[in-house]
Amino acid sequence: MKIKRLLSGIQPSGTIHIGNYFGAIKQFVDMQDNYDSTIFIADLHAITTIQNKDELSTNIINVALDYLACGLDPNKVCLFKQSDVPEVTELTWYFNCITTMPFLERATSYKDAHMKAKEVNVGLFDYPVLMAADILIQDADIVPVGADQKQHVEYSRDIAQKFNNIYGDTFKLPEPLILKHVAIVPGVDGRKMSKSYKNTIPLFGTDDEIKKAVMKIVTDSKMPEEPKNPDDCNIFTLHKLFLKEDELNSLRERYTKGGLGYKESKDMLLVEIIDFIKPMRDKREMYAKDLDKVREILKEGAKKAKIVALKKIQIIRDNVGINI
Ligand code: ADP
Ligand code: TRP
Repeated sequence: MKIKRLLSGIQPSGTIHIGNYFGAIKQFVDMQDNYDSTIFIADLHAITTIQNKDELSTNIINVALDYLACGLDPNKVCLFKQSDVPEVTELTWYFNCITTMPFLERATSYKDAHMKAKEVNVGLFDYPVLMAADILIQDADIVPVGADQKQHVEYSRDIAQKFNNIYGDTFKLPEPLILKHVAIVPGVDGRKMSKSYKNTIPLFGTDDEIKKAVMKIVTDSKMPEEPKNPDDCNIFTLHKLFLKEDELNSLRERYTKGGLGYKESKDMLLVEIIDFIKPMRDKREMYAKDLDKVREILKEGAKKAKIVALKKIQIIRDNVGINI
């Protein structure tokens, strides 16, 4: 029997990449049989950075296709779009009123945004609070995310605890779940792979786009015949995501012995990636031909998510004191 409630989401803020897959979506798929899973498209979060109607709606559909292509099964998982459950924004307001500005100023996401832009919008500043509302309104026990989102899940726990202290026991405290060996997937420049660094290998790119990205992976300038340290090589780190242990061991040997050039290692990686995504790509194409079905899946998911959210928001309104 599935007992624990799992919840996670991804912002529709650009093209999904290999880091998103191994850091987040793969875990959702692997866990769908053992948890009562709810996975959503965080479109309200995306508005903090995307204020273009066509871009946003295209991105939303794309994430839905990505989820389905990667193997999320709508018969097992509640799949929905955040904005279809507006109770979450109501809860965000209650949380806003008990959350202080210095607490939010400590969020690394805010600090990063603040470093890049002088004037951060209020939505972005409030990002962790909206995320806490997503998690807590669904009574989630565990929240699988990439390592960079761990702090946000901790914020949710703090906010839940504060609410419970003020208004009485209302929320359970969610746990983040981070897979150690895939915690941070490096991008082609060696930094964390991220849309915002433009260093991604797109999960559903064309063969050409993927090739272009792979060929850009930064290495040192050792010649093919020189021995190389695989643990110091971005290409090797990416091989780890695709190869079985024995294949990886023999590649490791070729690195340390010398004789394997970085170009050859990249060519091998390219084949691994394309072979890996082929079945997912086929599935994505199938769903892309039937977008009405995709919309229907999200609508059905929203219905289910709304039942939980409505029940919870009633309790919250009671506890806050606005039900008279
Ligand atoms: P990006 O940094 O590209 O904007 P998001 O912040 O939208 O990615 O992340 C979506 C999900 O994918 C999150 O759970 C995040 O932790 C995970 N994720 C993103 N980049 C990586 C990465 N390089 N390695 C592992 N997980 C990642
Ligand atoms: N902040 C997450 C990200 O950028 C997306 C997100 C929004 C989320 N709400 C969430 C993830 C709730 C887990 C749970 O990837």
